[in-house]
Amino acid sequence: MNDLEHLAIIMDGNGRWAKRYGKERSYGHRVGAKNVREITKYAAKMGIKYLSLYAFSTENWNRPKTEVAVLMKLLEKYLKTEVSVLKEHNIKFTVIGDISKFSHSLQKEIHNAKEQTAHCTGMTQVVAINYGARDEIIRAINEATKTHQILTPEILENHLDTAGMPPVDLLIRTGGDCRLSNFLLWQAAYAELFFTKTLWPEFSFGELEAIVSEYRQTERRFGAVISE
Ligand code: IPE
Ligand code: IPE
Ligand code: MG
Repeated sequence: MNDLEHLAIIMDGNGRWAKRYGKERSYGHRVGAKNVREITKYAAKMGIKYLSLYAFSTENWNRPKTEVAVLMKLLEKYLKTEVSVLKEHNIKFTVIGDISKFSHSLQKEIHNAKEQTAHCTGMTQVVAINYGARDEIIRAINEATKTHQILTPEILENHLDTAGMPPVDLLIRTGGDCRLSNFLLWQAAYAELFFTKTLWPEFSFGELEAIVSEYRQTERRFGAVISE
């Protein structure tokens, strides 16, 4: 049975889900945001240590201005309303990605959510915002080479946004596409990948449980040979 310390989810399919019901894409984002709470609580119950959620990529700025504005508003609302829920469940909040690109008020909310949950000792919820793995790796290299001439994997890891976190064990993408879209490229080097056609607003803990139990049975070889 494989341990599951770090679960990463690419929460995709909000827009298509809304269109399917004849609604605006923003409605899909609102319902998708609600599902974050449910899946987070369930992941914490399962004993997962880190839950990384892809919420806004470095490429998502290329969407229409109105959609980006909706996503920023939702993020701000999420930070305001979820902190108490996270605290209640002993869940620590943190972010990965370059948050310097966000408005001052949003950055303040992010700091506040981190501070308010800093004492929590259960799961850590890692929300990826303005996150792109290429951007993260370049920032890490630029930072690390200020003090190191030669980089090792360990030195680089210590400068990634995920410094101190274990590598991704299991990565799930909802929405039916089989790609990573610039998420955790370094950290998911040996992750087990699961792609489901379910659109994010409909992704349930029942499906999460089924994927996790399949993951637990998978033979993870890490390039070695498992003796019989
Ligand atoms: C994922 O849903 C949420 C974000 C990228 C912010 P999408 O908005 O990508 O929904 P689809 O993939 O277009 O259906
Ligand atoms: C990935 O979804 C990013 C998030 C879920 C936040 P996208 O919808 O942006 O990815 P592509 O464009 O289909 O690759
Ligand atoms: Mg998408």
